[in-house]
Amino acid sequence: MEVKVVPALQDNFMYLLIDTNTKQSAVIDPVEPDKLMAFIAQEGLQLNCVLTTHHHFDHSGGNEAIVGMRPKLPVYGGDDRIPKLSHKVSHGEQLQIGFLKVTCFETPCHTSGHICYFVESQDKKDPVVFTGDTLFLAGCGKFFEGTAPEMYKSLIKVLGVLPKNTLVFCGHEYALNNLSFARHCQPDNEAVKIKIDNVKERLSKELPSVPSTLEEEFKYNPFMRVDQPEIHIFTGTTDPIESMGKLRAAKDGFKPVPL
Ligand SMILES: [Fe+2]
Repeated sequence: MEVKVVPALQDNFMYLLIDTNTKQSAVIDPVEPDKLMAFIAQEGLQLNCVLTTHHHFDHSGGNEAIVGMRPKLPVYGGDDRIPKLSHKVSHGEQLQIGFLKVTCFETPCHTSGHICYFVESQDKKDPVVFTGDTLFLAGCGKFFEGTAPEMYKSLIKVLGVLPKNTLVFCGHEYALNNLSFARHCQPDNEAVKIKIDNVKERLSKELPSVPSTLEEEFKYNPFMRVDQPEIHIFTGTTDPIESMGKLRAAKDGFKPVPL
C-alpha cells in the first residue's frame, strides 16, 4: 500500500491510495482533480473510485470535474449532499481497492454524514485511516452539525479502537495551530513539545505534517485525551463528554500563538 499526499487549495490535503500490487487506486477528497489525474496517468494507475469524507466544498468540490473526466467513476460517501454521489455507504461497509480492504466508519459531528475510511493490506501491517475533518493532527473538526457526545463516540469509540499503529491522514494542514492549543491546555505535556519540534522540522523542509499515528494522537491531542486528569484540570470536569464540549468551546475562542 502507498499513500500519496497532495496539498490542495489553501490548506487541504487530497490523497491517492494505491495498491502497489495491482496498481489499482482511489482518490480521497479530490477537490483539485487535475493535480491527481496527471500523476495517475504518468504512473499507469487504474483509478477505481472517489472516496469522499464529507459534503463541504473543500472536500467534495472536485467531484463534478473528476466524474466529468471519468463518467463512470463511482463516488462513495455518506451524505446525499455530496456532488455526484453514486454509492452511499454506511457504518462498517467494506470495499476493495485491488487487495486493499477499505472499511467505512460513520463519524458524525463536524457534519452529519461524515465518513472515515480505514484501509488494511492483506498482511494487516501498517493500516491507515483517512479522517477528513473528524480527527486532525492534535485536534478535531468543529461541531457544525453535531454534538459533544457524537464527537466523543466518533473519536474515542470508533477511531480510538483502531490499531494503535494506524497512520492518520487528515483533511487539513492545521498541525501547528492545533499544537498551539494542545500546549495551552496541557502546559506540562512533553509529547506536545516533542511533536511541535517534529512538525516544525517537517514544515521547514516543505513536508506535510501528516501522517501521525493513533498512538501519538493519544499522547498529545487534547480531544483524544478527554479521560485524562491533565485535561480534566483544564476543563474543570471529570466527565469525558463534558470535557469534549468544553475543549471545543475553548478551541473555538482560542487565538493560536505562533510556534
Ligand atoms: Fe469540513
